[in-house]
Amino acid sequence: MTAGYVLVKKSRPLQGVVDVYGAKNAVLVILTSLILTEGVSVLENVPNNADVRLMMQLLQELGAQVSFDAESKKLTVDTFGICRYEIRPDIMNKMRASILVMGPLLARFGKARVALPGGDLIGQRPINYHLNGFKKMGVTTSRKDPFVEADLSRIPQGPTYTRVVLEYPSVGATENLMMFASIGQGQVAIINAALEPEIFDLIDVLTKMGARIQILPGATILIEGVARLNPITHTIVPDRLEVGALLVSAAITGGNITVANAKPDHLDIFLEKLSDMGHTIITQRVENSWQLAPGITIKAAHRSRATSFKTCPYPGFPTDLQPLMMAALCVAEGISHVEETVYENRMIHTQELAKMGAQIAVNGTKATIRGVEALYGKDVIASDIRASCALALAGLVAFDQTTITGVHHWQRGFDQLEKKLAYLGAPIELIEDHTSGQESLPKIQILPS
Ligand code: UD1
Repeated sequence: MTAGYVLVKKSRPLQGVVDVYGAKNAVLVILTSLILTEGVSVLENVPNNADVRLMMQLLQELGAQVSFDAESKKLTVDTFGICRYEIRPDIMNKMRASILVMGPLLARFGKARVALPGGDLIGQRPINYHLNGFKKMGVTTSRKDPFVEADLSRIPQGPTYTRVVLEYPSVGATENLMMFASIGQGQVAIINAALEPEIFDLIDVLTKMGARIQILPGATILIEGVARLNPITHTIVPDRLEVGALLVSAAITGGNITVANAKPDHLDIFLEKLSDMGHTIITQRVENSWQLAPGITIKAAHRSRATSFKTCPYPGFPTDLQPLMMAALCVAEGISHVEETVYENRMIHTQELAKMGAQIAVNGTKATIRGVEALYGKDVIASDIRASCALALAGLVAFDQTTITGVHHWQRGFDQLEKKLAYLGAPIELIEDHTSGQESLPKIQILPS
């Protein structure tokens, strides 16, 4: 963990055009999918954040060669030398997404040995959907603390057809099972699958590798296993969560910004809510950006109006944007209601927002927010990636200055978001303290740009 903090002061309305990098949640799973191939793959538009660097380190520990040009965001991975199928508990504990190696390792080696990822502050986050799905597909799992061992000992003779019904459209379980099913002889139908944009990016990657995947009615993903998959070159889908953060930064300061390289259809309900709040949203192609790319412009009202929403799997309102939108609602005119349905404990940021003067009544997974005229800068603590962003956005409309500790969460999720916000006019700075925690940073070969 790196000490340090994000320092935010009250901002003028933000103005300008910014671009977004590739989605962290897409890169993480796509990196694990490379285990399915043997050879050199190239990923473009890869954000340089701590979670992505940790996943690069994980691949290195399995035997891959990784080099990352942090300036041009180009990542090259040679998976030829992958020879291990065990993940160390200390890596698993740092990042839940490391469970996503399980499907690819099972497909490559018929075995995987990974530590249980454990819960975090926003919820318990079990992996039962992943394990139940693997069992349906012939995998035996056993618990040998701190590890879960998975073994595909019963290799089916001839083609099979397996239906895996997910009780809930879990993003990670859908990804893990889909990757496992991509190599083999049988067909697997994942019913009630998650269909997030990052899953479509993974399907795009797997299809480029040579996988046979179809989306069928009933949120069903049908995968027909193939004998082998090949390395790919791929540009990561833009990060809809970074887009959301930038749009809220304009909404909360009454600004006028354009986010280039943003896909409006990945954020439909979120954009509807921004419109409900009185902001003008224009979806367009941006011609004065460095390249012709789709974009979203927000011309924000002087003050937001209250709105209400509940989080849901895609295409519903994304849980990861709930804390950010809540920051904007704290200073909106009127009373808003927010319900969190994805995580049982994702209201922790409300305590920190309340320290800044927000009026929020929380009842379990529901919050009622009475908008106030002003917030006040305080020393607050980020409990997770999205909470760190929500507090920084609140800091943009708070008198005096806000300092946000728990800054490693910010660094896990974002690649220089503070610099993009500063470019738009926000007085925000990331103050890093490298005197502690450096040993935990992975050593990736980062090429000179
Ligand atoms: C992914 C995203 C995360 C986002 C979440 C929901 C990545 C790296 N992370 O996380 O940013 O907030 O989707 O959009 O892509 N659950 C179970 N059992 C399981 C799996 C999940 O009970 O086996 C529960 C979880 O505890 C949670 C809910 O299902 O309450 C959704 O989890 P899931 O969709 O799996 O999220 P992740 O893939 O972990």
